[in-house]
Amino acid sequence: MSSLSSLPIGACATLLAVTMSAQTPPAQTPAGRAVESRFPAGPGRDALFKVCRECHGPESVLGQLKTREEWSKTLDEMASNGASGTDEEWKEILDYLATHYSLIFVNKATATELESTLDVSAAIAEAIVGARTEQGALKTIDELKRVPGVDPLKIDARKDRLVF
Ligand code: HEC
Repeated sequence: MSSLSSLPIGACATLLAVTMSAQTPPAQTPAGRAVESRFPAGPGRDALFKVCRECHGPESVLGQLKTREEWSKTLDEMASNGASGTDEEWKEILDYLATHYSLIFVNKATATELESTLDVSAAIAEAIVGARTEQGALKTIDELKRVPGVDPLKIDARKDRLVF
């Protein structure tokens, strides 16, 4: 569980202190585009920028890793803080955060979860599930990379999120 224990304590408070002071500039300005470029493109990014811009800006999620359930709880808290969006926007934001800013439980995640969090095809996600079923839990990043079809670069790009 090294990924969990290496998360800096108090990162939330620090991030907020930095970001609370300035609202995110609108996406159509150069400054706004600079902020946007720090977030992976994909469904849900627009909703994140729309719903999370007031108060502290979407940058508050950068550098944070939570489980899908924890993100769901954070979103509930933001709704009680006063954030407002449509049901569809909240769902898209949760999916976006779970896809890009969640811990990846290599040995517990379902094939569908692996597909979105590792950005692999359904067949490769199934191959990972197959490997851990046949040979027992995958114990290292190298074991994960050795599953046939897995792109090692995609795994390396997510190494801080992997939990074995
Ligand atoms: C109406 C104002 C408001 C909006 C809009 C808002 N937040 Fe927050 N957010 C806060 C406040 C206040 C805090 C600090 C207190 C707290 O944690 O609830 C905070 C803290 C946070 C934190 C750091 C604390 C933690 O729980 O990790 C994250 C992450 C976060 N917000 C994400 C979001 C996301 C994602 C959205 C868009 C869905 C959003 N916020 C929209 C007011 C807002």
